[in-house]
Amino acid sequence: MPLPPRGTVIKASEAPFQPLEQASGRLVSILGYGNQGRAHALNLRDSGAAVLVGGRPGSDARARAEAEGFETFDLEDAARKADLVVIALPDEVHGPVWTSTLASVIRPGQVLGVVHGFSLHHGDIDPPDGVGAVLVAPKGPGRTVRERYLMGQGIPAIIAVHREIEMPATEDAPATDATDLALAWATGLGCTRGGSIVGSVADETETDLFGEQAVLCGGMTALFLAAFEILVEAGYPPEIAYIECCHEAKQIGDLVYNRGIEGMRAAISNTAEFGIDHAGPRLVDEKTRATMRALLQEIRDGGFAERLRRDARDGFRDLHAHRDAQRDHPIEAAGETVRNLMPWLAEEDARLQAPGPDTADEGGNGATPG
Ligand SMILES: NC(=O)c1ccc[n+]([C@@H]2O[C@H](COP(=O)([O-])OP(=O)(O)OC[C@H]3O[C@@H](n4cnc5c(N)ncnc54)[C@H](OP(=O)(O)O)[C@@H]3O)[C@@H](O)[C@H]2O)c1
Repeated sequence: MPLPPRGTVIKASEAPFQPLEQASGRLVSILGYGNQGRAHALNLRDSGAAVLVGGRPGSDARARAEAEGFETFDLEDAARKADLVVIALPDEVHGPVWTSTLASVIRPGQVLGVVHGFSLHHGDIDPPDGVGAVLVAPKGPGRTVRERYLMGQGIPAIIAVHREIEMPATEDAPATDATDLALAWATGLGCTRGGSIVGSVADETETDLFGEQAVLCGGMTALFLAAFEILVEAGYPPEIAYIECCHEAKQIGDLVYNRGIEGMRAAISNTAEFGIDHAGPRLVDEKTRATMRALLQEIRDGGFAERLRRDARDGFRDLHAHRDAQRDHPIEAAGETVRNLMPWLAEEDARLQAPGPDTADEGGNGATPG
């Protein structure tokens, strides 16, 4: 059955897990056991699916999957065996792995799944006729997907069907289709417990890239750096500049995350709130909006994807050069001094960067921001 219209919230009661239950005889392969792949494999297994893991020979991630009780296979064998083949590899390797390894083994009747739409949307993966293609993109890191699942909760995902196919009945289960598999996958992850949102692959890919470029990574980092440089140029101590213009972003971020913008306004001082009304519109003026529209246009016309692919082919030379240059920026030394005043930050960070819990006993407090 087709998904309801874009923007519809889907709850677990509307997304039964049955099409992926082990008893259905259907198999799920998760290709990649990294940030997302591990959480998907563990959650789906705990929900009652039969799950295999695919990885390249000698892969550390694959060894971890084996140590955590999964049968593992080379990517092509894992892909060949499954009804739902989830590609949880870094986006820039989808195209090369598809061409070299997967395209020749994927056959009609199988469903390909991605956890971010980049490769499907931009044609790096081009499933042949008769192969289904779906997206379940949890809106948070794999660790949070796992932790919330173990707490009986779940973070929302965007669910999309790129290509529908019918799937005949098996000995143990009635006929189904790619849409039902996507819904079952989202439920098996815990993502429909609170509710997930129907979108298209374009919705997920373009808004995700735009959010990263315009706000979360591009916009915010540029604001931090510019504000820091201006205070230091004006003679203020770098450590104080770092605290005021970078470090404290977490407090505002946490308020917005938990309460929304109105709730954040209610929690900050009147003086700080003045900044929202008067400084904000001067900073983000018509020129900034025009730049944001240009960024969106480059995402929509494929220009951004092409730039990323070109740099990936070049061993990420451009990305590495910028990373190296950032290391020498004075904000780094100032930040280190400030963070050293709070030694617990490094411990908390190590916990958040660890791959995440295997069982409920390791679940932590689930405070990972999504
Ligand atoms: N990270 C996030 O928070 C997040 C959030 C939402 C969606 N996503 C999406 O999830 C997908 C996976 O991203 P991720 O962050 O989970 O990736 P990741 O943590 O970097 O994991 C990558 C996995 O792929 C394997 N791998 C890497 N290069 C490979 C290659 N050339 N050939 C075969 N296997 C390779 C790695 O294992 P070995 O290196 O040991 O072989 C590892 O198992 C992407 O589509 C991403 O956009 C990520």
